[in-house]
Amino acid sequence: MSWQAIDRNEAVIDPQAPPVLSEAVRKRIESFLPRYETKQAALVPALHIVQDELGHLSYQAMKEIGEVLDIHPSVVMDTASFYTHFWTHPKGRKVITVCRGISCELLGGAKLLDVLKEKLGIDEHETTPDGEYSLMTEECLALCDHAPCMLINEKVHKCVRPEDVDRILADPNNATLDIPRSDLFDGPHEDGPHE
Ligand code: FES
Repeated sequence: MSWQAIDRNEAVIDPQAPPVLSEAVRKRIESFLPRYETKQAALVPALHIVQDELGHLSYQAMKEIGEVLDIHPSVVMDTASFYTHFWTHPKGRKVITVCRGISCELLGGAKLLDVLKEKLGIDEHETTPDGEYSLMTEECLALCDHAPCMLINEKVHKCVRPEDVDRILADPNNATLDIPRSDLFDGPHEDGPHE
């Protein structure tokens, strides 16, 4: 787990800014409320919904999530900044997630990460200048028998060797799922699946 330090003094929100959460997104968040005893308990699903829709969680989006759930924006930010999965700044069209768990580590995961950093010219939680790739790590992708492994968006890449990186990055379909996308929220998205 890597903690992101956030300077809350930077969280300046223009009071005149138009809302970023669409009515459909607000309704989707509200559809989760009956499942929980408190509105706050729906915070993590709400963060997923908004990031899925907007790509990342801006301060404005966090403020509006707080309004929907009747909680202070700082509570939203605390949760969003706790999990590496949530991005509080824009991310690339494709996010590469390299496993740093022990099985992958033993079979070359650290070397794989180094090669990706070198090829992409970015560090963890950074994005390439063309906006194509962002890079991050996770503790275990539950694919230990295929170590070292990584995801590109939701597509799994198993047993990846450093020499495979060029081929994978050059493949335009490297993030295209070849199995149906699992639905995180127990129901089809109104606009169809998001890649
Ligand atoms: S340690 Fe890498 S998938 Fe489990």
